[in-house]
Order: sequence, then structure tokens, then C-alpha cells
Amino acid sequence: MKIFLDTADLAEIRRAAEANLIDGVTTNPSLMSQVAKGRDPKELYREICEVVGGPVSAEVIGTDKETMVAEGRKLAAIHEHIVVKLPLTEDGLKACRTLVGEGIRTNVTLCFSVSQALLAAKAGATYVSPFVGRIDDISGEGMQLVHQIRQVYDNYGYDTEILAASLRHPTHVVESMMLGADAATMPPKVLWQLSRHPLTDNGLAAFLKDWEKLGTTL
Ligand code: E4P
Repeated sequence: MKIFLDTADLAEIRRAAEANLIDGVTTNPSLMSQVAKGRDPKELYREICEVVGGPVSAEVIGTDKETMVAEGRKLAAIHEHIVVKLPLTEDGLKACRTLVGEGIRTNVTLCFSVSQALLAAKAGATYVSPFVGRIDDISGEGMQLVHQIRQVYDNYGYDTEILAASLRHPTHVVESMMLGADAATMPPKVLWQLSRHPLTDNGLAAFLKDWEKLGTTL
């Protein structure tokens, strides 16, 4: 399963890329607004692409098809790794179709139902992003959506990749893996939580204490 980092914070992206842990990055206007103040967003996207060396989702801010297509072309021209992120609206689906026809990769975002995911696949999206955590936030079963989309895409052979998004904790990531999501995007905090286990810390402390008895170094 591909791991994407859900952030526009370059320091966090570099930290994760150092051990080759991430396959790509997803951003959205809210994440950009946290770090891009006073910076040219195009420059930031370019730098993120260079660090990651894989797909970087950059979202349009227009809401009508023509504006989204124009913004999508501009974003795609920034770097070969850019994936144009479009909202799952009627205009977003139309813009997706146009951009895909031009060979531009797309991530159709803000997906909250299996019917929406079907239309994203029909429009030729490279990725669809079901927002698991935001469904859980309103007492729904976010992971059920990932399960349903996997089943529908497999039933009919759609090759749109399922990018489980809005993941808030390690269990979300593990369940996404178990359900066959193609990729999971997560905040840096969740990525590092995946690496931790108290038995690892305890075991390491015990090994080091025992080594001290030798009274020598390597
Ligand atoms: C994914 O593409 C989105 O940027 C992100 O996962 C949304 O997460 P949130 O619901 O925690 O804001």
C-alpha cells in the first residue's frame, strides 16, 4: 500500500522522506494556508515535488468547470509529479474528464459516498479520496465507505486508485490496508504513531542495560 503524507510542511515531508517512508503527498487549501503564508504556492508545490519524487496532490480553488480546468493546467505545468485535486461536484467531474483527456493525473476529493466514487471512476480519475474521519465525525462508519468502493471498483474493473483520506489514527491506516485501499494519506503525527510500540522501547532499554555489563563499546 502506498503511504502519502497529508501536509504541506516541508520539514515534515523531508523527515519522512529520509527513510523512504512516503510515496507521495496530499495537500488541500487548508493545509497550504497553514504553511504557505508569504510564499508563492507554486514554488512550494515545486519544492515538495522535488523532495517527494512521487505524486503530489495540489487542489484547484475554482468551483466552475472552466476555472478548474485552467487552474488544473497551471498546476500540472509546475512539475511532472503534480496530481490535480478536484472536488467531487458536477463541475469537478467534468473538469476531471477534460484534464484526464489531456494526460493530467487527477485526485477527486471530498468523496463521501460510493455513488460519488463510481462517478469519479467513470470520469477517469486517477485517485478518489474517501474522507473516512469526517464521516466518523458525524457518527457514520467511514471505513465502510472504503470497503464499498473497493467492492464496486473490483466488480467492474475500474482502475481509479482508492486513496483513503482524512485518517486520524493508526487503526484507520491498518483498516485501510486490510480493506485493500491502494493508498492512505495521513498527517505526520499518524505516520510516526505507526512506528511506535511500547515493547520495542522496553526491549531496547533492556538490551542496552545488559550491554552496559560488558563495559565496552562497539
Ligand atoms: C486528503 O486529501 C485531505 O487533505 C485530508 O485527508 C483531510 O483530512 P481532515 O478531514 O483531517 O481535514
